[in-house]
Amino acid sequence: MELPFNEPFKTKMVENIYRSTKTEREKWIKDASFNLFNLRSEQVIIDLLTDSGTGAMSDKQWSAMMLGDESYAGASSFYKLKDAIKDITGFNYFLPAHQGRAAENVLFSVLVKEGDIVPGNSHFDTTKGHIEFRKAQAVDCTIDDATSFHPFKGNVDLEKLENVLKSTPAEKISCIIVTVTNNTAGGQPVSMSNLREVGKLSHKYGVKFIIDAARFAENAYFIRLREDGYAGKDIREIAGEMFSYADGMTMSSKKDAIVNMGGFTAFREEELFRQASTFNIIYEGFLTYGGMSGRDMNALAQGLYEGTELPYLESRINQVAHLGSKMKEYSVPLLEPFGGHAIFIDAKKFLPHIPKEEFPAQTLAIELYLEGGVRGVEIGALMADRDPITRQNRYTDLEMVRLALPRRVYSNNHMDYVAAVVRNVFDRRDLLKRGVQIEWEAPIMRHFTVRLNRL
Ligand code: F0G
Repeated sequence: MELPFNEPFKTKMVENIYRSTKTEREKWIKDASFNLFNLRSEQVIIDLLTDSGTGAMSDKQWSAMMLGDESYAGASSFYKLKDAIKDITGFNYFLPAHQGRAAENVLFSVLVKEGDIVPGNSHFDTTKGHIEFRKAQAVDCTIDDATSFHPFKGNVDLEKLENVLKSTPAEKISCIIVTVTNNTAGGQPVSMSNLREVGKLSHKYGVKFIIDAARFAENAYFIRLREDGYAGKDIREIAGEMFSYADGMTMSSKKDAIVNMGGFTAFREEELFRQASTFNIIYEGFLTYGGMSGRDMNALAQGLYEGTELPYLESRINQVAHLGSKMKEYSVPLLEPFGGHAIFIDAKKFLPHIPKEEFPAQTLAIELYLEGGVRGVEIGALMADRDPITRQNRYTDLEMVRLALPRRVYSNNHMDYVAAVVRNVFDRRDLLKRGVQIEWEAPIMRHFTVRLNRL
């Protein structure tokens, strides 16, 4: 008999989960103005709001924390992290930051000016937020492929990208940003050949190519699994090649580096590093700690290695697929192929009778919470926000609920529970007649703080 797959780690410490009742949840979600970000974590049974900063650190990471060097300047923890980043990405220069969006803020302070264009595949919401805050424009050039089997649905449409590069003067392009995996488009990977071609275009048109690397290891795993010529290759070797086509990266370490807080920018050339250094000092802190404590840098250095181990990545991606397959068994409409960090439920197909103006994905996210205390997140019109100029709602084709899996936290029993919760809501979907409406919203990135009413 072939031995079944099993996780390459075991549990040393547990955290109890409070099992709330439906009546309690009815009250709590109302008190939270139907915004799941407003819930307290004890009010949630299975928390799939995000895979960001929610992973479980290893015994090695915790012990590395005890050796943190908290010197203001020149801490050994900084050099340890610098070596790990160089080893895994090939980038010579790096600046620590407290998280991914802080890294974006530092880099964009150098690169993005008013009136600029920033093409790429789908920009994450904070990335877009930082671009639009500077009165520049993020242009989404992700391939348009609705089939369920495209192995690299996160890819950049190279023709679309070249058209943008051709029709815009080089000084108006801040940089090209490719997000791996493509979170907003469903945690979908980007192929090596696509990264290589984007690199060529960036050279041809003289613009910088930056990788948003939050989930670079999961992307490397998919390349190993799906792209010709990469089967059997070492994950770190694949990651190294991915970065070799870029000029720099921003990193939210809270994802694939399995730490609870942290980020960085890294660069191939000294010039960009020098320019970014000034902003790092203003916004984050001195060059050798920038927003991170020494102990956190130690845990991150260790996490970069653990996050790029093949057995760990296998268990991670298999768990996401386990959840997806269960829900598929129940005929729940899902985005396929399944992504690296999350399963995306297609709310437009799940609740076709709820109009886009009533936010079907948010409506579904609320129902999943009520049914079984499962917290996911809306990736739809609420998150897409309003157009910064016309203030009109930006309705996109994406109207999804993302169930993102924290790393090394939940068991497959938990996944079966989540699938059952989704199934129960799916079975009674026709009883859900109306969605929600906005009572109050912030001018930018409204989904975090929006207050809603149920119709
Ligand atoms: N880039 C990507 C692709 C991300 O997914 C995120 C965060 C960031 C940048 C920003 O990093 O949170 O450390 O400041 N994504 C989280 C999510 C929040 O839930 O997808 P951060």
